[in-house]
Amino acid sequence: MDFAGKTVVVIGGTSGINRGIAEAFAASGAKLAVASRSQEKVDDTIAALKAAGAAEVIGAAFDVRDAEAVAAGLQQFHAALGDFDVLVSGAAGNFPALMAEMSVNAFRTVVEIDLMGTVHVLKGAYPYLKRPGGNIINISAPQSYLPYEGQAHVCAAKAGVDQITRTLSMEWGVEGIRVNSVVPGFIEGTEGAKRLAPTPDAGEQLRRDVPLGRWGTPQDVANACLFLASDMASYISGTVLAVDGALYQRGSGQFGQMMGQMLRSMKKG
Ligand code: COA
Ligand code: NAP
Repeated sequence: MDFAGKTVVVIGGTSGINRGIAEAFAASGAKLAVASRSQEKVDDTIAALKAAGAAEVIGAAFDVRDAEAVAAGLQQFHAALGDFDVLVSGAAGNFPALMAEMSVNAFRTVVEIDLMGTVHVLKGAYPYLKRPGGNIINISAPQSYLPYEGQAHVCAAKAGVDQITRTLSMEWGVEGIRVNSVVPGFIEGTEGAKRLAPTPDAGEQLRRDVPLGRWGTPQDVANACLFLASDMASYISGTVLAVDGALYQRGSGQFGQMMGQMLRSMKKG
């Protein structure tokens, strides 16, 4: 894949899966902009992306819950790098918690980051997306369509993200902008996976639920993003692409209840 001369913006691109995506675009010669809350993580990522081969890299620290800060950051990215060819929106927060046990603010926090954060990012970037030819990739999660106990907040937020993908593929598709979601399965070594499967037993249960029999890697997800952003996918829009080793075909599986059982037994203990 050759993204030389293209501008790629990755929000939440400073660790885990999203950083893997940013690194893949960097290795393909793109100009990159990354953002997350921590300036330290932004600086570290800028250095890594330069080393990976990016033509140019800039970054900014902001919280996706702050619509004005997001808009200002995206304006700064546009002034420096020009129209956005690719926008990856992937900032997210997650923790296992049963609905009866979590506060309203806990639920709201995840919705504010995952769902409203996506709204702020997409609306902030809208004036700067290349027309025709702009590409949006929302990073979703299996919780969008598979219910997992202990994940009501994430299930609600990510389902919203995917419905925004489908809706904007129509609203913005008429302007020549493609909008897709990518759903990573369980991706090894990531913060999200550590939070959902904190013990080796939970990790093994999770692996057994995956028909392909292995955890995914950030590179697996990045490959799908490179494809979706490329001309090879020029007629693909409004799709929710699972990169999950066929996890979805088995449904929530035992893992759907496991987290709930774990949380309930912790409460008893
Ligand atoms: N169980 C139940 N409630 C929890 C919780 C947990 N494990 N962790 C946080 N909360 C609650 C807090 O108690 C608070 O609610 P309260 O005000 O009623 O007490 C609310 O959630 C907000 O927590 P806070 O720590 O103030 O939020 P934050 O904005 O500093 O951090 C998080 C956001 C909680 C999502 C944090 O985990 C985060 O920054 N995550 C980013 C990384 C991540 O989650 N990566 C995986 C992506 S899949
Ligand atoms: P991660 O390493 O914690 O990545 C989250 C990124 O978002 C970080 O760069 C983080 O940086 C940033 N971020 C978090 N809250 C933010 C906020 N309020 N404002 C701005 N930036 C914020 O997690 P990950 O596990 O790789 O997950 C990445 C994405 O993949 C998420 O969208 C997640 O839902 C999705 N996903 C993950 C898995 C998995 O197995 N890990 C599975 C399915 C889907 P800062 O801390 O500096 O803000």
